[in-house]
Amino acid sequence: MTDIINIAIDGPAGAGKSTISRRAAEHFGFIYVDTGALYRAVGINALRLGLDTSNHDFVGGTLDGLEVSLRFVGGAQRVYLFDEDVSEEIRTPKASMAASDVSAIPSVREFLFDLQRDIAAKNNCVMDGRDIGTVVLPEADVKIFLTASPERRAERRCAELSEKGIKQDFEKVLAEMIQRDYNDSHREIAPLKAADDAILVDTTDMSLEQSLDAVISIIKEKIAHEGI
Ligand code: DC
Repeated sequence: MTDIINIAIDGPAGAGKSTISRRAAEHFGFIYVDTGALYRAVGINALRLGLDTSNHDFVGGTLDGLEVSLRFVGGAQRVYLFDEDVSEEIRTPKASMAASDVSAIPSVREFLFDLQRDIAAKNNCVMDGRDIGTVVLPEADVKIFLTASPERRAERRCAELSEKGIKQDFEKVLAEMIQRDYNDSHREIAPLKAADDAILVDTTDMSLEQSLDAVISIIKEKIAHEGI
């Protein structure tokens, strides 16, 4: 056992993963690693090049020499494409779809694998994504699978976008969410699914604070139980 503690939080979009993971990381003084941002950066790079983001050969061809990195500024994660901070640009609905497309491409997952593992090997972290507990950190100290109904997740996503001044139609967001869930769960490589030893947290009927409390308690209990 090493001294480093890794917490894996997986689940579909809009389950509250990023906010809960970030705040849980703050609570324990760990860094928060949002791995979706990496797929989003690869996605917008392909979009900028005018490529079909679901084409394995085209997107695979962008990886040679591509530089995607995470930098932690005052504990907050920023994502860089080469030397450009793209942390805001990666949040548009178009970038979400592109990320979902490129995340189904094996060479993209391989390209991002070492980067994620290196960060986890060196830092106490809460890492969120789709395959953290199953593929990236199968030996994580704590694994949590956060979920909620698609309707509740679409509501949350609309509220989040609206806070950023991006107006979206609920039905459209819901349809995209269902499509993205389908893509993420049915892809051949590293599909979205709970690890066998993950603890399931369904946030459909929970407020953000309740979900956060539940996650923090699980982590505390697990860490105390294993004497970490
Ligand atoms: O968490 P997010 O919405 O930012 O993720 C964007 C896309 O990236 C999502 O559709 C699935 C994919 N993804 C993935 O396949 N594996 C991860 N570890 C994180 C995200």
